Amino acid sequence: MNIIVNGISHAIEVEPDMPLLWALRDILNIKGPKFGCGVGLCGACTVIIDGEAVRSCQTLVGDITTPVRTIDGLADDAGLHPVQQAWMDEQVAQCGYCQAGQIMSAVALLEANSSPTDDDIDAAMTGNLCRCGTYPRIRAAIHRAAGELAGA
Ligand code: FES
Ligand code: FES
Repeated sequence: MNIIVNGISHAIEVEPDMPLLWALRDILNIKGPKFGCGVGLCGACTVIIDGEAVRSCQTLVGDITTPVRTIDGLADDAGLHPVQQAWMDEQVAQCGYCQAGQIMSAVALLEANSSPTDDDIDAAMTGNLCRCGTYPRIRAAIHRAAGELAGA
């Protein structure tokens, strides 16, 4: 089967019931999405499909019909994505394990809602857990990125 990840088409030979997270990490060597819980509870494996933040551990690769975006494809030759830069500026990460998933959920949120309220952010980010408790800095970074994107 073929899947498109970060704009690149890949032919992969896997069982269609393989979770997308496995295909990304173990077959395609795309390591941005992280394995946290494997059961859809933590958000560490979040990718974007059809504009939605999706748990790749709960998505079967055989069900993929549209392009997949992972954190590995956010930056380009011009530099970091504004959400990544905001994360740096707010020094969000602590251990960092959850942050790739947090950033992908934030990107999906801001692409759907360019000026989210605190409640919007809390609703969009509720499925992304952070055992280090970086939630206040995540919220600040999303507001900062919204401002940057509005001025872009
Ligand atoms: S690893 Fe997918 S939600 Fe936790
Ligand atoms: S920064 Fe450590 S789990 Fe979120």
